This record gives sequence, structure tokens and C-alpha cells, in this order.
Amino acid sequence: MCGIVAYVGDKEAAPILLEGLKRLEYRGYDSAGIALLDSNDELTIIKRAGKIVELEGAILDEAPTGSCGIAHTRWATHGAPNQTNAHPHFSGTCDIALVHNGIIENAGALRTMLTGVGYTFLSETDTEAVVHLIDHLWEEGEPLEHAVAAALGEVEGAYGIAVVSSRDPNKIVVARNGSPLLVGVGRNGEMLAGSDATAVIAETREVVYLDDGDYAVLTAEGYRTYHLRDGEVERSIHQVTWDLSTIEKGGYDHFMLKEIFEQPNSLRDVMRGRLLEEEGDVRLGGIADHGETLSEIRRIVITACGTSWHAGLEAEYMMEELARIPVDVEYASEFRYRNPVLEDGTLLLAISQSGETADTLAALREAKNRGAPTMGVVNAVGSTIARDTDFGIYLHAGPEIGVASTKAFTSQIVALAMFTLHMGRRRNLSALQGREFVQALKALPDQVEHLLEMNDAIRALAEEYHEASNFLYLGRGFQFPVALEGALKLKEVSYIHAEGYPAAEMKHGPIALIDAEMPVVCLAPRDPVFQKVVSNVEEVKARGGRIIAVVSDAAPELRGKVDHLITVPQTIPALQPVLTTVPLQLLAYHIALLRGTNVDQPRNLAKSVTVE
Ligand code: G6P
Repeated sequence: MCGIVAYVGDKEAAPILLEGLKRLEYRGYDSAGIALLDSNDELTIIKRAGKIVELEGAILDEAPTGSCGIAHTRWATHGAPNQTNAHPHFSGTCDIALVHNGIIENAGALRTMLTGVGYTFLSETDTEAVVHLIDHLWEEGEPLEHAVAAALGEVEGAYGIAVVSSRDPNKIVVARNGSPLLVGVGRNGEMLAGSDATAVIAETREVVYLDDGDYAVLTAEGYRTYHLRDGEVERSIHQVTWDLSTIEKGGYDHFMLKEIFEQPNSLRDVMRGRLLEEEGDVRLGGIADHGETLSEIRRIVITACGTSWHAGLEAEYMMEELARIPVDVEYASEFRYRNPVLEDGTLLLAISQSGETADTLAALREAKNRGAPTMGVVNAVGSTIARDTDFGIYLHAGPEIGVASTKAFTSQIVALAMFTLHMGRRRNLSALQGREFVQALKALPDQVEHLLEMNDAIRALAEEYHEASNFLYLGRGFQFPVALEGALKLKEVSYIHAEGYPAAEMKHGPIALIDAEMPVVCLAPRDPVFQKVVSNVEEVKARGGRIIAVVSDAAPELRGKVDHLITVPQTIPALQPVLTTVPLQLLAYHIALLRGTNVDQPRNLAKSVTVE
């Protein structure tokens, strides 16, 4: 986790670094810090526990100057989120400063060795060992980058780092291995670096994604890229295609609400240019050249975390029903430490909004090592998972800043539905079935637009239920993953304990929890299991539970049995999850708001979990 930003040029660096940090705050927000080299080559470090506003206040007070600097926003892994453990960490007489995202696995051994040769550690972090190691290995007269490269040669684990030193000023060395880092190529005598493009977009749209094992040396005049093993290397420049307005709130109180309301457009974007209405098929540029591999697929293993895992579960239901391909969905963190069976003909499909989730990336690499073809369904263009997979589908949902994923989830379902259609049409789906599917896809954005009109009604519902301590979400078939996702959304932003369950499985345990204090959200759109869900609703009602049912028509069968009805538009069962999810996102949002939590940055969470 954690966010890094770096700047060298001729402007005052502090405001630019602060701006970048604010855009990265979604990556972690328990402490933040900055290191600046001033015109006398003096290094100033300021850090604060808490959010970036705390650091901003300290910077206003102390008014440091300097046009070369690095900054960091932290999500604690090693050591409490206090000021001492905040980055940057420094060595010696405060002449080398370093910020780090990731986990140094041999930090313990390094700490013992470095303590043995006289270094004093001030923090409990794994990071501090790296900055002392750089100092320890820095040979007289050598440039900073040689010392950094020498140190990284002895470091095990994941890192994105940025380093400055008063001993070799006006220069920043950045490096990555397993944690994201890119260089922002400034236009007029300035260079930047950041954990992602949001950190540098205010200054430049030209970015260079570093590969694992790469490091780069940035000065106001330009940059050079190197690989720890291969020496100097060329890395191409990419243009960022989205603009600043997509990462600002644009009149909404929260990014989460903005992103919920963006869904009609994000769904249009994921389908743009991809639907073939006549043929009843889709054109997916990212997989078009891999027809041969896809025709040999006999089984798909999906791996992901969090909300993306829920989208994977939807894909299992879709793929098995419509394309008749067996699918297993694996938590990435579990998959990588088992001894998974990946026989010939198994495709590994990694789903990730950020494209940087460490567990998903590790699972992907595990599958690659075992020779499986790999595919990504990813939102962040140029991210590690996008680049490490053999082929894939981009969501084009634009940056998602709210920590709780919303628009990425519905775009994932649609991307996976398009992939299912593509595979199904090559196997057992007729052109007619394909055309019906395409029509249903095409109608989705307008249907979502329509159902967003119920925002006020959902707010009223939230007022009734926001004091509940527990929630249960029930669904069957395609609606079971929606139940999981609805519960996760509520948990994440409101801190109410919530569980998602297969509606019938409830009888085998959770039914014991049901009483008049337990709101139960039942997903009951008109689909082949509707009648079965009605029976489950009866079971809840008989135990006095308060029921909010999400339906897709007048649902007379439920009249008198439920306390509230949320009616969403009807579509085909495979796509109905897109429409039943949106009201649950709104419900979680409004309940959280009423409970006064930080909706965009819930406690303990981070948007992109780049540590195991
Ligand atoms: C974190 C986020 C979740 C997200 C999950 C997977 O836990 O808080 O919202 O679903 O990571 O992230 P990814 O970027 O791989 O989809």
C-alpha cells in the first residue's frame, strides 16, 4: 500500500508534492511525510501521524523550501501509524532520505547486520533498514544511484522507493520491484515520479511505467532508466488519456457517490465499440489475437481479491451457464500458497481494478510459472497485472478513487459478460441468443441511469436502518455474489457487521441470528430461482426479521411479506446483478453518511493493497 510522489525541477516542490499526495491518499492515510532539498543542499524532513492535512499544516508552519523532494502517504504494515514510523526515513546525519511502498522481507536480518556495524534504528519499520543499507554501501565519490542499486541487490521483498540525498543533490533515484512506480516526464525542466498517474497528472500526461527490477535517475534535465541486472534500458513513454476532472469530486460530496453516479457512463465506456449487434457477438481488441489459445481453453481459474473476487464469482455463474466452461474462483491469497492443479487447457484469469493488488499479482505469477496462459480484466491502464498477463480486457472505467469499489464492479461484470458471450458464441450459443444478450448489454447504461433516480428513496430507507448493528444479505444464483458485495459495501463504509449468504444456505446457521433487530436484504428479481427466494423470504418473516426486498417487477408474491420493496429494471438473469448492485451501493453510502464515517477513506482500508 502507501503512495509515493517525487519532484525535481525549478518550482517549489512542496505544493506539487502535497497535491500529488492528496491524489494518492486513497492508497493509505495513517501518516504522511515529505523530504526537501533546499538550494544549500540541506535536507529537511517533515512528517506527521494522521491524514495529509496534518502534514499540510506542518508544512505551512515550517515553510520549507526546495525544488527537489520526495513524499509519502502511509498505510501501516510494520509498526504503529505514528510520526516516528512515518516516511521518509533517513540515515546518518539526515543526509539520505527514502520513502517506500511494499514490504522488505529480509528487514530483520538487515537490521541485525546494520546494528552490528553501528547504525541506530529510530523506527519499527522494515523501510529504515534500506536507507541505512544505502548509506552503508555508498562508496566515496560514487553517485547516489550506485549506492541505491548496490543496496537493492541485497534487499528481498517488494518495493517502490524514492531516494534523495544532500551528498548528491538535485537528483532523485526511484526503483520498483513488486510495488507500482512510474516516472512522469515533465515538459520544461522538471521530472516527477509517482505510485500511479494520478500523482503526476497535474504536471504531465507523459508517463514511463517501470518494470520490476528497474530503477531510474531523475534530474531537472531528464531521466535515465536502468535494470538492476541489465544496466541501462529503454522504457517507452505512454500518454495518459483521462484528465484531471475524472479524479476530482465534480460537485459531489464524496468520490463514492460520484462514482456510483458515473456508472451509466462507465458502462457505456466498457462496451464502446465492442458490441456487434448483427452478429450477436463482441469485438474485444485485447483478446482478438489470441483466438487459438482461447479455443483450447477447457477450464478457467479466476483469481482476485475483495470486490473483484465477487465479480469473479459472477463470471463463474455466467461462464458455466452460457459458455459451458468449468470455472473455479480462487481468493488470490489462498491460491498462491496452495499447490494448485493447472492442467493443460486451463486459463488463469486475474481480475483487478487497480492492477496492482499484491496477492492477485502473486497468484498470476504462480500460474505463469506453471505455464498457464493468463488473462487480465483490469481497470488501471499500464498497471502491473495488465502488463504481466498474456492478454486481457480493460474496463476503461476511469480512475476509481473511493476506497470502496463501485463503478469498477459493474464494469467488471459487463467485461466478463462480454467475454462469456465471446466464448459462448464459439461454443454453444446461437446467433439469436447472442443478439438477445447484446441487446440486454446495450440497454444497461440507460437502465442504471433510470434506477439512480431512486437515490432519495434509498436515503429514506437508510434513515430507518442506519442504527442497526447487523445486516444479512441473501441471494441465490446470479444474485448470491450480489449479496456478498452488498454486505461488503456496507461493512467497508459504515462499519456495520454484515454477512452475505446464499438465500437457502441461511437455514444452516445464520437463521439463528434473525430477530426483529436484524434487517435482511433479500435479492429477489424475477429470474428462474425467484419462487425459491420467495420461500426463503417466508422463512425470514416467520422469525420476525425486517425484510428489504430488491425486485424487478411488482412481485405480488412478496406483498405483505416484506417491509420494503426496491424495484429495479428487469434484464436477463446474467446481467441482473448490475442492476441489483446499484441500490445496495447507495444504501451502504447513505447509511455510512448517517453514521458519520469517512465514506471515501474508511478506517483501516486502502484502495490498492500492494502488500501481502
Ligand atoms: C482492496 C480494496 C477493495 C478491492 C480490493 C481488490 O481491498 O479496498 O475495494 O476490491 O482491494 O482490489 P483490486 O484493485 O485488485 O480490484
